[in-house]
Amino acid sequence: MKQVILVTGGAGFIGSALVRRLIRRTGYTVVNVDKLTYAGNLSTVAPVADDPRYHFERVDIADAKAVARLFATYRPCAVMHLAAESHVDRSIDGPAAFIHTNILGTYTLLEAARHYWEGLDAAGRAAFRFLHVSTDEVYGMLGPEGYFTEETPYRPSSPYSASKASSDHLARAWHHTYGLPVLVTNCSNNYGPYQYPEKLIPVVILNAIQRKPIPVYGRGENVRDWLYVDDHVDALLTVLEHGTPGETYNVGGRSERRNIDVVRAICALLDELAPDPGVPRHEDLITFVQDRPGHDFRYAIDPAKIERELGWRPAETFETGLRKTVQWYLDHLDWCREVTDGKYDLRRLGLAGVTND
Ligand code: DAU
Repeated sequence: MKQVILVTGGAGFIGSALVRRLIRRTGYTVVNVDKLTYAGNLSTVAPVADDPRYHFERVDIADAKAVARLFATYRPCAVMHLAAESHVDRSIDGPAAFIHTNILGTYTLLEAARHYWEGLDAAGRAAFRFLHVSTDEVYGMLGPEGYFTEETPYRPSSPYSASKASSDHLARAWHHTYGLPVLVTNCSNNYGPYQYPEKLIPVVILNAIQRKPIPVYGRGENVRDWLYVDDHVDALLTVLEHGTPGETYNVGGRSERRNIDVVRAICALLDELAPDPGVPRHEDLITFVQDRPGHDFRYAIDPAKIERELGWRPAETFETGLRKTVQWYLDHLDWCREVTDGKYDLRRLGLAGVTND
């Protein structure tokens, strides 16, 4: 019998990259469990949706009955938990959905997994894995020096990161208390195809090609550590198959960049790939806007543990990954229109009711 993996959030950006990879390059059967919020779109998995090993279930992970039914029906050997509200700016405007999905949803999933796991035979219990996928934002922010390691204390600063920190603690507690074979990964900023056009990189591309101002928060000095989404997916599969239950693995590509440098790099690529006589230099569209409230200054992952213990390394550099990503968005403007239509118009979010004057 084929081994089954439940992927939560499989219609989102990272989840869908994982689903596509599992179907195309492994023998696992995949159950994509997704609530289909604004950021979850089945078009992201359309390329693999006809495969007999692919199943879709529209379920809210905080719905205990529905989640229990999934375990009973599909009898998975693993859960890869990526379902989350993920956008920091939205968490500033409306934290409730973040508490519901990220905290309550994770709790509900852990409980259902535990009950199912306790009913397995010894071999099934030993082989079962629950991979909880999280973020480096749980560690809070760094100054100009230093890196986040697996030992860095948690100091989340936004409603989003506080909700993810909470879910990480729950996941670890279910391992510590009940013995559920939980693994946790904390990853840096992802980018690549199918990222919902509210995050920095697609926002910059879409504004620039429409000759609109490119909004850079503050002075653009904040630093993020960038990883191409397929490299993250590769790390998740590596951790699932070779990681030690109870352990945490930080995932990052040693690609720190100041936001302003990321934005300028995108503009230079657009000058080359989408020349516009009306805007000879896309970077002339850069506009500094009011900063994000509580904006974390710098994130940077030390990935030494996953490199050393599991042999994982990213395949893309930031330059190769960014070029692919810009080209992908230029080739998929219809997709961008389709997933934002009536839902999001690139308007500024996350000012917590403060007007941008
Ligand atoms: O570090 C991992 C995290 O990265 C993930 O856990 C989050 O789910 C993901 O959203 C991301 O969080 P960020 O807040 O870093 O991503 P975002 O794309 O919103 O912003 C990246 C940086 O760019 C941040 O310093 C804010 C800035 N920014 C963002 C937007 C949307 C701008 O300057 N202008 C913008 O329009």
